[in-house]
Amino acid sequence: MAILVLFLVVVMQYVEGLVGEDKLLEMGKEKVTQLHFYFHDIVSGKTPTAVRVAQASDSDKSRTLFGVLMMADDPLTQGPEPSSKLVGRAQGLYGSAGQQELGLIMAMNFGFIDGMYNGSSLSILGRNPALHPVREMPLVGGTGFFRFARGIVVATTYWFNSSTGDAIVEYNVTAMHY
Ligand SMILES: *[C@@H]1O[C@H](CO)[C@@H](O)[C@H](O)[C@H]1NC(C)=O
Ligand SMILES: *[C@@H]1O[C@H](CO)[C@@H](O)[C@H](O)[C@H]1NC(C)=O
Ligand SMILES: *[C@@H]1O[C@H](CO)[C@@H](O)[C@H](O)[C@H]1NC(C)=O
Repeated sequence: MAILVLFLVVVMQYVEGLVGEDKLLEMGKEKVTQLHFYFHDIVSGKTPTAVRVAQASDSDKSRTLFGVLMMADDPLTQGPEPSSKLVGRAQGLYGSAGQQELGLIMAMNFGFIDGMYNGSSLSILGRNPALHPVREMPLVGGTGFFRFARGIVVATTYWFNSSTGDAIVEYNVTAMHY
């Protein structure tokens, strides 16, 4: 019993030590930044930018490819043409999480290399019903220029080849950050 009490006292002192010092951090003013770029998801050919890394045993029998998981390193460009200026890369996972309708779970980091955004990133986590013309997904965080970001991204299919699955998607990002 005495040992337990002693232990609790030590634990409480430790916790107090961690939270005892109050610090008021000046965050500055919250800003809103809007970004516009194109996302190139190439799954076919010799140099795909997104590859299938896992699947369920009957994913290929599913009309929505339920259970397929892809790893992507997709170029983000200023304009819609693949040769347009590279502004960043979308790196992460997307997988088919819908059985009735194609519904992707997106877990992606958009890392930017352009101008004042160079080295900064945004994290997207949300549902992407990719066959809908316009999809909205949550922006759940960011780094660098986008520290403490939250917001939304609106994805609009710009071009889609239904025989290969390759797509170019327009992204409009609204990020609130400090
Ligand atoms: C982005 O930052 C990296 C590392 O600091 C640097 O090497 C690169 O030249 C920068 N790119 C641009 C376009 O500013
Ligand atoms: C889709 O890809 C196929 C195979 O590469 C190609 O033959 C076809 O022209 C493409 N369609 C469009 C609309 O780009
Ligand atoms: C995305 O932004 C562009 C350029 O600002 C605009 O023309 C377009 O209408 C926007 N798209 C959506 C779906 O909001």
